Amino acid sequence: MSEKYHIVTYGCQMNVHESEKIAGILCRMGYENTNEISEADIIVFNTCCIRENAENHAFGNIGALKKLKKQKPNLLIAVGGCMTQEKGKTDVLKKKFPFIDIMFGTLNLEDLETLITRKKAQKKKVIEIREKEGEIVEFSDAYRTSYPNAWVNIVYGCNNFCTYCIVPYVRGRERSRKPEYILAEVKQLVAQGYKEITLLGQNVNSYGLDGTTGMNFAQLLDAVASIEGDFRLRFMTSHPKDFNEEVVKVMQKHRKICRLVHLPVQSGSNSILSAMNRRYTREKYLDEIKMLRSYLPEAEVTTDIIVGFPKETEEDYLQTEALVKEVDFASAFTFVYSPREGTKAATMDGQIPEEVQKDRIMRLVELVNSLTRKKSEKYVGKEVEILCEDYDEKKGLYLGRDEFGRMGYFPCEHNCIGEFVRVKIARANGISLFGEICKD
Ligand code: 5AD
Ligand code: SF4
Repeated sequence: MSEKYHIVTYGCQMNVHESEKIAGILCRMGYENTNEISEADIIVFNTCCIRENAENHAFGNIGALKKLKKQKPNLLIAVGGCMTQEKGKTDVLKKKFPFIDIMFGTLNLEDLETLITRKKAQKKKVIEIREKEGEIVEFSDAYRTSYPNAWVNIVYGCNNFCTYCIVPYVRGRERSRKPEYILAEVKQLVAQGYKEITLLGQNVNSYGLDGTTGMNFAQLLDAVASIEGDFRLRFMTSHPKDFNEEVVKVMQKHRKICRLVHLPVQSGSNSILSAMNRRYTREKYLDEIKMLRSYLPEAEVTTDIIVGFPKETEEDYLQTEALVKEVDFASAFTFVYSPREGTKAATMDGQIPEEVQKDRIMRLVELVNSLTRKKSEKYVGKEVEILCEDYDEKKGLYLGRDEFGRMGYFPCEHNCIGEFVRVKIARANGISLFGEICKD
């Protein structure tokens, strides 16, 4: 009987896709997936460190394995991802959890196979974290778990050093993948029947700026969207300092590209944006939204917002609220500022008391939810095209998203996962829509 693996993933889409690569490595080694952690012979934690609660979450779950490891001494526990890449974190992990067998970083994911083999041959734990990014390693055998959606990396790392953000420290400098690899991967995915492709990068607009690809992001997007086949194309994340008309023109040219842009604004106040080192102003952001909607009036925008950044005043916060109303985001991920060791903002004066942060996040969440609800109500009575992604056992309904990322539920007599279906929306419940497949 073959050995089994279980992967626990924290954080963003980038990590979800990296877990698919980890799964690919483990499958290649002969392991089989199990959803039951107690059945696993190897458990891999793919960690995130973007906010403190992501770390605490991982700490809690790793700690909970102490007992299992005692019962199953041959169980291998591996920890990878952004947390291990943080300065001094492997020592903390070693001390807190002496039963961890293997640690690897985001910059040497591909070494996992060698590290497991090494660990199996020795008693001592194996820790190998690459400090500096190297050449991009191409993975041809990611084990994808999200059909009909597929993620494709286009640029790794980040050079932006927003003052709150730890990503540039744990993911290294920007490196762009060669267009021929990206195009070949997308072609293969489309041939395999994937229906939604998302191009991934911390800042997709940086694609090619390292001068190694012969194309910028708009050109790459154009090339990917020109691939034949029945699929939708998304990209994330865009950075407002670089998002531009050239990209929007490519969006307009290809109906395959979803009319949705994830454009994190972070704050509506110029002084906070400047302290965050975001390198755009509120006015520039609003101009970009105008420009986008001048080409594509139906376009929707989603965003990320941080409240409680050092020195954020009530006035600054209210400017964020006003901007949220003005843009009318389709949805927004809202965060309380979390100081990250080693970042510039962590040592800034004027850290905001927790109760003020809590008050602001509650107000903001309320505002965002009310906008999202209003948008949902507008869907009622309309027909939308949904890509069916899954079946919800509890509800007894299929579910999927429209091009704007809105989740819709509907009954269907056959398994329609991976099909585009037209659904007439009968009711909206918060962010979810419910309806029936249209009979032609
Ligand atoms: N505190 C709170 N939120 C953060 N983000 C990044 N770093 C932090 C931090 N230190 C948020 C930003 C980013 C999203 C992925 O996470 O809004 O866009
Ligand atoms: Fe972090 Fe800013 Fe880079 Fe995004 S662009 S990953 S927020 S440093």
